[in-house]
Amino acid sequence: MKKVVMSTALGFLMAGVFTSCGNNGGSTGGSNSGDSATGTATDTANASTPGIHQADWGESDGKKVYLYTLTNNNGVQVKISNYGGTITSWVTPDKTGSKSSIVLGFNELAGYLAHPPYFGATVGRYGNRIAKGKFTLNGKEYTLATNDGQNHLHGGKKGFDKVVWEAAALKNDQPSLTLNYTSVDGEEGYPGNLRVTVTFTLTNDNELNIDYNAETDKATPVNLTNHSYFNLTGDITNTILDHSLMIDADKYTPVDSTLIPTGQLQPVKGTPFDFTKATKVGARIEQVKGGYDHNWVLNRKGNDLQMVATLSDEKSGRTLQVYTTEPGLQFYSGNFLNGSIKTSDGKPINQHTAMCLETQHFPNSPNQPNFPTTILQPGQKYHTTTKYKVILNK
Ligand code: GLA
Repeated sequence: MKKVVMSTALGFLMAGVFTSCGNNGGSTGGSNSGDSATGTATDTANASTPGIHQADWGESDGKKVYLYTLTNNNGVQVKISNYGGTITSWVTPDKTGSKSSIVLGFNELAGYLAHPPYFGATVGRYGNRIAKGKFTLNGKEYTLATNDGQNHLHGGKKGFDKVVWEAAALKNDQPSLTLNYTSVDGEEGYPGNLRVTVTFTLTNDNELNIDYNAETDKATPVNLTNHSYFNLTGDITNTILDHSLMIDADKYTPVDSTLIPTGQLQPVKGTPFDFTKATKVGARIEQVKGGYDHNWVLNRKGNDLQMVATLSDEKSGRTLQVYTTEPGLQFYSGNFLNGSIKTSDGKPINQHTAMCLETQHFPNSPNQPNFPTTILQPGQKYHTTTKYKVILNK
């Protein structure tokens, strides 16, 4: 896990903060909010103006939910809600100039309150699975909520994807949104009060940068990720089986029947898991029981941000590059999507119509001493970064 000192990070963000005085009077819902900052307000009358725009989006747990629209100088727009730290849309042009969203999401909060499988969400305290919801730390056994058969998945019954985050800072120049959430000691069975800060920044190079920071007062596992489902055609009636995927990984972590890694790091060479050269997602998917839902052991070394995967769609001309500081990548090919959930305009979301590239530490690390550690100690700073970048090939 990469940990760097972030003492100045929030101070730096707050320094350049601009308030968004939307129809709700600029309330970002908390004492540590952008309210105290100075600057020029966004033109809230027009959410297409470069910058960040805040709109009321409903309520959950008695707290106000907002939808933030981040617009860059190219007119590319990313929408993020403080409900679940959820990316609800990312509208980019295709090679003909026609605009559509490359991620799966709903127009209304109601879609998310019905608990779809983590569409666009910020996932935590532990992204991915912990076997039987149990782990031992400093001689004490902890029992977590189990919500995936016998296993713990994506933070439990009410993970970070289902809570209302506090919008702590909104910045117009290189539009960015900082969200805070404090997960209390014992939540979903985890030890320690964990204070989490996630900052989303949309650059004029059409990059979405996601920066994760956390601190705890007791040792605890932490593994934060984003669960966006991509379909680069921008049309959910197409599958992602024709997308070409490259993952810079010579190994992956094979799993048991409940998707818990066996503990081995297996070479991908000669298997359907070899994406070291760009290969169509659908080319060998039939050979993988249930489809892809595995963690790749990235070749990346060191702690800096490196490109680890690319996903391309010839039809639209869009390529997505994935950069991360994390050691692993879960590629999930939308296997459990089965048409039962519909988009806001009523289209069924069928199997393999969207896929996730979740940057992370390996699943079940708290029970696998040979995997890179996910334990955050009091006094340590958790800091990871992931960047998704869209490029247009004409
Ligand atoms: C992750 C998991 C999958 C599935 C999805 C949500 O990517 O690895 O098995 O649970 O989330 O449906």
